[in-house]
Amino acid sequence: MTDIKNIITLGVGLMGEGIAQVALMAGYNVTLVDIKDELVDKAYNGIEKGLKKTEEKGKLGEGVTAIDVLARCKKSTDLASAVKDADIVIEAVIEKMDIKKQVCKTVMDNGPSHIIFASNTSTMSITEIGKDCGAPDRVSGMHFFNPVPLMRCIEVIRGEDTSDDTFQKTMDVAKSLPCLRGNRYIAPVLKDRPGFIVNRLNAPVQIYMGWVFDTAKDKGIPWENIDADAGGKMPMGPCELSDYVGLDTMLHVMNYYKETLSADFEPPKAVKEMVDAGNLGAKTGKGFYDWSAGRDGIKAKVKGAEPAGLFNLETSMAILLNEGCRILEEGIASGFKIIDDANMAGMNSPGPFAAGKKNFEKWSEILEDLANKTGKDYLKPCELMKSGGFVSMRK
Ligand code: 3HC
Repeated sequence: MTDIKNIITLGVGLMGEGIAQVALMAGYNVTLVDIKDELVDKAYNGIEKGLKKTEEKGKLGEGVTAIDVLARCKKSTDLASAVKDADIVIEAVIEKMDIKKQVCKTVMDNGPSHIIFASNTSTMSITEIGKDCGAPDRVSGMHFFNPVPLMRCIEVIRGEDTSDDTFQKTMDVAKSLPCLRGNRYIAPVLKDRPGFIVNRLNAPVQIYMGWVFDTAKDKGIPWENIDADAGGKMPMGPCELSDYVGLDTMLHVMNYYKETLSADFEPPKAVKEMVDAGNLGAKTGKGFYDWSAGRDGIKAKVKGAEPAGLFNLETSMAILLNEGCRILEEGIASGFKIIDDANMAGMNSPGPFAAGKKNFEKWSEILEDLANKTGKDYLKPCELMKSGGFVSMRK
């Protein structure tokens, strides 16, 4: 264990709120910090609700109540003074580099000399965030998955300047945070590359999904028929998952990969149009689906729909295997088991390697065909996949 006792969760939207809840459940003193009282109050109320639910299930510990746990939770809208007695700041503010850099500097300028700044960014470079803060050795990444209390994975990222001590302490804090659905899984990310492990693994599936969305739109195929293609084998079909993550987030992330990985990440027209119309998915109540009546209606719609025959799960697995091989080639993860385990813990979906060991030749052909059909060269199989060389890279 570390000597870390006081945690700040900075930026308490959905992710920050979840992080704060599990940090409180782990026994830390937590201060919620955001720019407006309303935001901090909303998160506090959400945490209270989550803790009460956990208490009702007897999962807060013997004789421990939600009120006991909340007694360790403070609120603030003044980061510079809140950090004075903090040991680590876990940041989940808006995905804008200048804002991340600014808050990182505020933390280092005002916090104690041992304070760690851990960013929950899903897209930005940890190295860049910490570059101008005066203590880049104390900046790391701690990437959570939504919803934080239920998704087991946390990726801990080593930026180019992160010290061994900071990396280890970040790993220790991550390991100490409970999960309401099984044991936490902590994936060490050895290189600060776009998307880290899990998001990077899944990133090019968005190129495929984008092609599916635009093709369905052109042909007038309803979205539930696309989700029916997943045949209940994914926790959420591609349209529902995109709505759940947020269509603006999808757009933002694809644009980021377009800049950092390949021009083939051009976002689909169907999603751009919805975002332009202000329909961002679950959070605005409308996206591919109408969310005003909750998820049950969507689930029923998908269950009753004819599969469209456009989205194919085996093709997605082939895409994952190809990207997993690129992750190994770039030295981001030390072996394929970590990639498979992290995907299961972060997305509740199996990673590609277990099945990929037997299928890499067939899947390489599927990808050659897909790249031709979509005109997206990024989907072509890489050498490590085609050769099956990854098979010996387990650990
Ligand atoms: N505190 C306490 N309890 C909570 C809670 C909280 N904060 N949140 C939910 N719960 C409880 C619910 O009340 C429910 O309790 P009940 O069983 O007694 O009714 C229980 O937990 C389960 O909740 P749900 O009914 O909502 O759970 P589901 O079985 O429907 O599963 C899911 C929901 C886990 C989200 C599942 O649909 C899933 O795995 N979806 C995929 C999610 C995914 O892929 N996430 C990753 C997105 S990518 C990402 O985050 C990366 C980033 O970079 C953007």
